Amino acid sequence: MNLVVIGAQWGDEGKGKVIDILSKKFHLVVRFQGGENAGHTVITGEKKIILHTIPSGIIRGIPSLIGNGVVIHPPTLLEEIKALEENGIDVRRYLKISRNAHIVLPIHREAERISEERRKGRKIGTTGKGIGPAYEDKYGRRGIRVGDLERKEILKEKLEVLFSEKYMDFEVEREELLDQLLEYGEYILPLSVDSVHYINFFIKEGKNILFEGAQGTLLDIDFGTYPYVTSSNSSAAGVSSGAGVSPRFIDEVLGITKLYTTRVGAGPFPTEIRGSLQEFIRGKGGEFGATTGRPRRCGWLDLFALKYSATVNGISALALMKLDVLDELDEIKVAVQYKHRGSIMESYLPDPYILEEVEPVYRTFKGWKKSTRGVSDIKDLPVEAKDYINFIKDFLEIDVWLISTGPSREETIILKDI
Ligand code: IMP
Repeated sequence: MNLVVIGAQWGDEGKGKVIDILSKKFHLVVRFQGGENAGHTVITGEKKIILHTIPSGIIRGIPSLIGNGVVIHPPTLLEEIKALEENGIDVRRYLKISRNAHIVLPIHREAERISEERRKGRKIGTTGKGIGPAYEDKYGRRGIRVGDLERKEILKEKLEVLFSEKYMDFEVEREELLDQLLEYGEYILPLSVDSVHYINFFIKEGKNILFEGAQGTLLDIDFGTYPYVTSSNSSAAGVSSGAGVSPRFIDEVLGITKLYTTRVGAGPFPTEIRGSLQEFIRGKGGEFGATTGRPRRCGWLDLFALKYSATVNGISALALMKLDVLDELDEIKVAVQYKHRGSIMESYLPDPYILEEVEPVYRTFKGWKKSTRGVSDIKDLPVEAKDYINFIKDFLEIDVWLISTGPSREETIILKDI
């Protein structure tokens, strides 16, 4: 089975944990978009490992591929490799990197800083990792790719094009940059592959591939709340172009959602909770960015938005995360519709100017006021929690494969053994 694991909200849904649990059933795990703006936290026993660019499957010793759709910041990648090696993981044996993946240069971070500064009141609130400018150069056909790091003369020429077309006003020590990139190449190139052949070999052999999404659907450059989005296709749409796999070979799409909502960075968030309850959820859920440490904005579950996300991705199964965070609440709200200028909206529109004006219509559930932390059998959940979950399942008309009741692998209710 080839499975896509996708964030159904604005990222940080807990994809790292799900992928860690599922990956043992797969022969290859593939990242297909994004870069080190992602932060997947995986807890294994006593250890907490945060991955930014490397697929989470690596922790289980599963072959892992960084696809062509990913943008790579070499120093971060090398740090990640080092940290994993220090944890006893044989990264160099299992990690492969597409020769066509683009490189994030120091200039990209600088360009992003300036661009955010200029936006004043309309900042995106990016992670500051240079992801947007790296993709801009990719689509501007002046980007530097992994494969370029092995050819000094061509790399030099490409850097000339880059600096003559863009960044004319930036002070860059070009020779130094060239040497630095060639040095990174010495570490990265031995791991590089022609990823289309690599991945399609697994497909031909009938192996199972897990595609690991980063960020979430509402941050997708095409389907998210543009311009408050990331610069890649973080929905299931990104798999084919970011990994080199035909849509014909994708079997299931597992949508990951928390049982509430969070968002980092700017942009509309209709179900955002204000005041002390937001702080309570943030504290209990540990809602601080894995990459930037920024406090995440917290709000109620938004089923109206999730329905859209399910449509865009063709979500065929759900993983519901962080149930235990809601344990102490007296009541739990869920948005089922929006009102815009007094009228009920027919369907969700990811237009930030409309979303800033909508008023969610909530359905309120009684809290269960009991600990669900660590529950691993659905029978042991309080009846109110089951009601809440059943409502979500029925509303979205999608099966639930997994419910998470705590950060570690064991704190999980598995409803479908794939
Ligand atoms: P960028 O991806 O750094 O360009 O940031 C664009 C938007 O996406 C900002 O709102 C970020 O906070 C958000 N974003 C990027 N990566 C993540 C993530 O992994 N989790 C949650 N939000 C993210």
